[in-house]
Parts: sequence; structure tokens; C-alpha cells
Amino acid sequence: MSEFVTKKILSSSPEETLRIGKELGRGLEPGMVVLLSGELGSGKTVFTKGLAQGLGIADPDLITSPSFIIMNIYPARVPIYHIDLYRIDDLRGLENTGLEEYLGGDGIAVVEWGEKLPRSYLPESRIEIVFEMTGAEERSIRISGPEEIILNLAQTRKKSCHCEE
Ligand SMILES: Nc1ncnc2c1ncn2[C@@H]1O[C@H](COP(=O)(O)OP(=O)(O)OP(=O)(O)O)[C@@H](O)[C@H]1O
Ligand SMILES: [Mg+2]
Repeated sequence: MSEFVTKKILSSSPEETLRIGKELGRGLEPGMVVLLSGELGSGKTVFTKGLAQGLGIADPDLITSPSFIIMNIYPARVPIYHIDLYRIDDLRGLENTGLEEYLGGDGIAVVEWGEKLPRSYLPESRIEIVFEMTGAEERSIRISGPEEIILNLAQTRKKSCHCEE
């Protein structure tokens, strides 16, 4: 298993957050779990939309907040399990829901309010992302995960910045 590293990226618009999500999505393999944390409106769902685009989803408008039903499934290069634990206070409520089957299985699980999941539910191959609102349209996005994925993401971003200059 490669080392776990952390990078902080600043996003200055929803479009930029989409783009970062898309870049990450391109590099994900089945079985990975992506945990998203951060206050209401910090960009978790926007990021998920980008990630799904990176995984080849045909229609990103399919992605909405699954808050009321806990999980949506989107067909992409691999299935995307979009889980939202906002309304789950008591994790005992997750027992017998079968949620565990989607974590580390055949697809990619993206979990909003992911910090609520006990670590024992999670596979080693996971990415943890913390969003912070640092301005009206600015978000700090702190991404931790396996070294090759995180460094690759940072590299791609550097290149795309050069293109825009
Ligand atoms: N840089 C940015 N990145 C992402 N979203 C931004 C940014 N700037 C402004 N926004 C706005 O912030 C909101 C983020 O909403 P989003 O639904 O993604 O948040 P969330 O973290 O999923 O919230 P919730 O906890 O309610 O599910 C959107 O309205 C988006 O347009
Ligand atoms: Mg959301």
C-alpha cells in the first residue's frame, strides 16, 4: 500500500470545484471510497458532479443530493454509489441497510458527511476530502489519499493552470 499524503487546493468558483472533482474521478479505480466532509453548502455535491463526469457519466444533471433517500446509484465507467449521511445521527440506523456492500465493492462510493462512518466500515483504499468555506466563492479543499493519486491530481492541475495562462 502506498503512502497516504495530503494536498490542499483552493477553488475560487463552483466551476473550478467541478474541474478538480473531474480530474480526481479520472484516476479512480473500482473499490475506492471517497469521503467528503464540510459544512452545508461547502461544495460536496458540486465536487461529486465533477467526479462523476471524470468517471464518464453521460448526464451530470442526474447528480442531486441524495439526502432524503441516503443513496443514489449512477451508471458510469463503473457504478457510482452516492451516499449522503446528513440525516443519519445514529449509526445503529445503518445496520441492516446493506450500505456496507457498497463500500469497497465493484464501484466507487462517494460519501457526503463521510466522517460519520466508523473507520471499521472502510476499505484501505480511500480518499478523504475536507471542504471549508473560505470566502463567498472560495473553498479550501484538503484531499488525503494514496500518494500516486494525490500527486497525479496536483500535477494535472499544474498543467491545466499553465494552459490557461
Ligand atoms: N468554489 C466553490 N466550489 C463549490 N461550490 C461553490 C463554490 N463557490 C460557491 N459555491 C456554491 O456553494 C454551493 C455548494 O453546494 P453543494 O450542494 O455542493 O454543498 P454541499 O457541501 O453538498 O452541501 P450539503 O451539506 O447541504 O449537501 C453551491 O450553491 C455552489 O454554487
Ligand atoms: Mg450535498
